[in-house]
Amino acid sequence: MLKVTEIENIDFRVELLEEFSEIIKRYPEGKHKAALLPILHLVQAEYGWLSTESMERVANFLDLQPIEVFEVATFYTMFFLKPQGQFVLEVCRTGPCCLVGAEKIIKYIETKLGVKEGEVTSDGRFSWRGVECLAACGMAPVLQIGPDYTFYENLTEEKVDQLIQDLKQNNEAIKSDSQIV
Ligand code: FES
Repeated sequence: MLKVTEIENIDFRVELLEEFSEIIKRYPEGKHKAALLPILHLVQAEYGWLSTESMERVANFLDLQPIEVFEVATFYTMFFLKPQGQFVLEVCRTGPCCLVGAEKIIKYIETKLGVKEGEVTSDGRFSWRGVECLAACGMAPVLQIGPDYTFYENLTEEKVDQLIQDLKQNNEAIKSDSQIV
């Protein structure tokens, strides 16, 4: 995943632009605006978040006004409007999860990672935030991890420790694989 840290010269990869074009083909002539959501998901998967310039580029590609893209990106909470960690821990903070310890889990994650909600750890790996019901109340407390939204259920502090360790190790494995290549 590329990281855009400044709002300047974003040139979408040719392959990414081709994916945009394929998505547009799914919709009837003149209804290309319907492609906006899937295209924003692709941009976020590429860069980790949606910068103002990336949204302007999408607007230009779809022949929309930038405000039309900003409206959508700011409405849906799954879009990040500032840089995030490589892994974003999204912890449910709605009633049923809170009844079985979500607030304690949130506090534990905050202390363990050493960053406040929405901040990024110094190694760029993690950020976290509280979210509303993830529709897995029967397995509360629950968190999901972006960018691929894997669920982790019946959370305990021990499970959070294991999860963070696994993610760190997985990240190391990815790095060493790419070095071998
Ligand atoms: Fe947490 Fe529904 S309240 S998943």
